[in-house]
Amino acid sequence: MIKNKSYTKEVNKMVTYDLVIKSGKVVSSQGVFEAHIFVLDGKIARISRVLDTENAERTLDASGLLVFPGFIDSHVHFRDPGLTHKEDFESGTKSAAAGGVTCVFDMPTTKPVVTNANLFSEKLSIVSSKAYVDFALYGAAGSENVQEVEALARAGAIAFKSYTVSPPAERISEYAGALATTTSAIYEAMEAVSKTGLVHSFHAEDDGIVQLFTKRLQSQGRRDALAHAESRPAFAEAIAVSNVIRIAKELHAKIHIVHVSTKQALEVIRAAKSQGVKVSCETCPQYLFFTKQALQKFGPYAKFNPPARDEQDVSALLDALLDDTVDIVVSDHAPHAKHEKDQGYEDIWKAPPGVVGVELRFPLLFTLSQRLGLSYTALAKKLSTNVAKIFGLQQKKGDIMVGLDADFAIVDPKEEWVVKGEELHTKAKENVLYHGMKLIGKVKHTVVRGKPVYEEGVGFEKNGRFVRI
Ligand code: DOR
Repeated sequence: MIKNKSYTKEVNKMVTYDLVIKSGKVVSSQGVFEAHIFVLDGKIARISRVLDTENAERTLDASGLLVFPGFIDSHVHFRDPGLTHKEDFESGTKSAAAGGVTCVFDMPTTKPVVTNANLFSEKLSIVSSKAYVDFALYGAAGSENVQEVEALARAGAIAFKSYTVSPPAERISEYAGALATTTSAIYEAMEAVSKTGLVHSFHAEDDGIVQLFTKRLQSQGRRDALAHAESRPAFAEAIAVSNVIRIAKELHAKIHIVHVSTKQALEVIRAAKSQGVKVSCETCPQYLFFTKQALQKFGPYAKFNPPARDEQDVSALLDALLDDTVDIVVSDHAPHAKHEKDQGYEDIWKAPPGVVGVELRFPLLFTLSQRLGLSYTALAKKLSTNVAKIFGLQQKKGDIMVGLDADFAIVDPKEEWVVKGEELHTKAKENVLYHGMKLIGKVKHTVVRGKPVYEEGVGFEKNGRFVRI
């Protein structure tokens, strides 16, 4: 058991707790049970089946509700600094709070891209006062900044991100610094990151194949939405995943594959895991709920990278959730402004890729888990416990256990509701593919280190803090 100051006070029933969450059904990695949770100094001080005191600054009645460990979304793009017309840290973390997310990891592809320790510190000072929930920041690891990786780790980067595929020429500045598109560049970047002991995350699609297919489609005059999916074939993902896994094996590196979308890539990852390669992976709701037909229905609003795939990929991803090949589900929340997306109606190549989801990840997965027979505990692992473990935050977050941060998502498991884009807290309210979808499971309260940061129908309070290992 983790001990801390608050734990040693545990025997003192006369203590005034910061918060008592009473009568909820607790969902922890150890199972599901009725209990009261006592919070002191931002930590879980006691978990008791008996409500022996209500001596607390605040009491939250969770009768009839599930108390999950606060959800951790390790893949968001909050666009701050530099692209705040799409999203900023305030709107992004509010949206997170309303989705039961108590900690986010922001990607380094802000403007400028976070390629060195100075830029990391600048970003930290810009976003810190805006955060409603806890946050960690990624560093970029590209072919041109390998010598900066160690200092970025010292500055507090939670992990590193590399893209093996380049964007179209007009968007290159948004990614420059995080690009490692050749095998030698991937090797060098991974070598540098593995020395820090931190996780190296890869957007894995093969650059050569994507460029080739895109050029061919463009020369045929294709500008329709489906061309986007055709330009990034499934095997391009599998090639890149194999490539980074082979290099990771050689370097004994700890890698994470972001937004896995295909059956082929899952097969490669499953085999690597069985051989003991230190590889973890994630998928996102958009790959579980949509096939590429969504491009025909929603046009540029269903453009994201990698693209939505086929039925067989969706069902392979669902199987992989159940057999734990997929370790975690994250949002890859990637907002863009309406006028930017709308350019893609006439010409799909002009629309930026990305869909929003930080606020909807829980209800989408909760709804899906009922259909799949995924238990509450398994869901808590995919949305919180495993995320903390993969990135090394398990001493602080990811579970409901004495000594951990008092981060909770308190949800009504019975409430059915319909998603309305305009009610979400992101700036990109039009970019909600789930608009009109009926879901079950609603976030009622979100608590970050003992402080309620969101209450449905009431509002928000800020309590975000920078998190590092
Ligand atoms: O769809 C996506 N959008 N995929 C990515 O990998 C990047 C993201 C963005 O930054 O817009």
